[in-house]
Amino acid sequence: MLASANPHKLRELRSALPGWDLSLLDRDDFPPEIGASYLENARVKARFGRRHAPEGALVIGEDSGIEAVALEGGPGVASARWAADGVTQLLDALAGATDRGARYVCVLVAVAPDGREVTASGTLEGSVADGPPRGSGGFGYDPIFVPAGEGRTVAELGDAWKSGHSHRARAAAALAEELRRAGLGAA
Ligand code: IMP
Repeated sequence: MLASANPHKLRELRSALPGWDLSLLDRDDFPPEIGASYLENARVKARFGRRHAPEGALVIGEDSGIEAVALEGGPGVASARWAADGVTQLLDALAGATDRGARYVCVLVAVAPDGREVTASGTLEGSVADGPPRGSGGFGYDPIFVPAGEGRTVAELGDAWKSGHSHRARAAAALAEELRRAGLGAA
């Protein structure tokens, strides 16, 4: 189970992990995301989810964000809460910046029914587009994030591209490998 209320994240993780029976543990009382790191936030969500999930279910907590070089890694772990309209805020913050480099980061924590925890992370390098948002796929900063080696934004590249290449897809593949090594089943 995925301890998240974000259906985009579920869709991306499902297509990145086709063999898994993943569903959303969607609650309205998730603890606030106030940790100092992605790992801390992902762990809090995973442990909260494990307490409320059906017995026997492996629960995944996820935290992610975008890190801009010109903002010294910001907004980073605060990506979801630093502005009402993060896209406009980021474009404004980078106006005139010479370095538009950025990356997406995703950290996943899986908690097994017996309490064992496995973690994994993934990144996607790229840059923040110097222009208006483009494309309709994905969510969040995708209409202004251009992956390295691509000319289009993630929102233009679309959900199928994302499920194979995103920071979330990479973290999911790494998590699946770590779970396999730990002898734990799929979520
Ligand atoms: P959280 O992981 O729910 O705390 O939120 C992470 C925030 O980072 C999201 O609300 C987005 O603003 C941003 N973010 C994380 N992953 C992505 C992504 O795949 N595309 C676009 N924005 C993302």
